[in-house]
Amino acid sequence: MRHCIYPGTFDPFTNGHLDVLLRAAKLFDRVTVSVAISSTKEPLFSAEKRVALIRATVGKMPNVDVTSFDGLLVEFAHAQRASAIIRGLRALSDFEFEFNMALMNRHLEPQVETIFVMPNESYSYTSSTLVKQIARLGGDITKFVPAPVAEALQEVFVHPNKRTRRVGKKSDWHRRST
Ligand code: COA
Repeated sequence: MRHCIYPGTFDPFTNGHLDVLLRAAKLFDRVTVSVAISSTKEPLFSAEKRVALIRATVGKMPNVDVTSFDGLLVEFAHAQRASAIIRGLRALSDFEFEFNMALMNRHLEPQVETIFVMPNESYSYTSSTLVKQIARLGGDITKFVPAPVAEALQEVFVHPNKRTRRVGKKSDWHRRST
């Protein structure tokens, strides 16, 4: 059985990540989306929440499962009996970092191959950091992330204008917001 790991911080999982995952799921019998627990990125969402959001997004994909991992990626891949690691390449700027990581992983575990997948070019400028920044400032992120992720971001960053607009008549929310 061809099994691959699709690892990332996924803070949060975006439509660009989903595009890569859909391509990987066509190439492999089984894909394990693997959320890195210890990350130097100080994630907004806990690992459990990131796993739950990805599960809510990919729930109906029969050959995809979602989990988290700690420690070295290649050791996790080896323990899972996966033969490959999938990584997305959005633009040339991703290449150097990804190339170094792939070669280091190959040095650590020669049995596990890294395979690069290019998402649709419409996702070339999407990143988790930008999505969080837009959400924090009250912008519309629904085009960039799956619905469960958009809802979670909206819960974290409740924009004052939007919160008051949801509540009753205009006369009410004027009063509430003062
Ligand atoms: N669509 C949209 N955005 C994408 C993307 C895509 N297809 N592919 C990558 N990105 C973006 C992400 O949004 C993220 O943006 P951000 O930096 O603004 O948050 C960035 O590219 C990369 O994040 P992500 O895809 O979540 O992966 P990562 O680079 O954080 O993952 C690990 C890195 C977890 C795979 C790596 O750190 C690791 O293997 N850790 C385990 C420890 C280990 O083995 N270390 C030795 C490695 S040699």
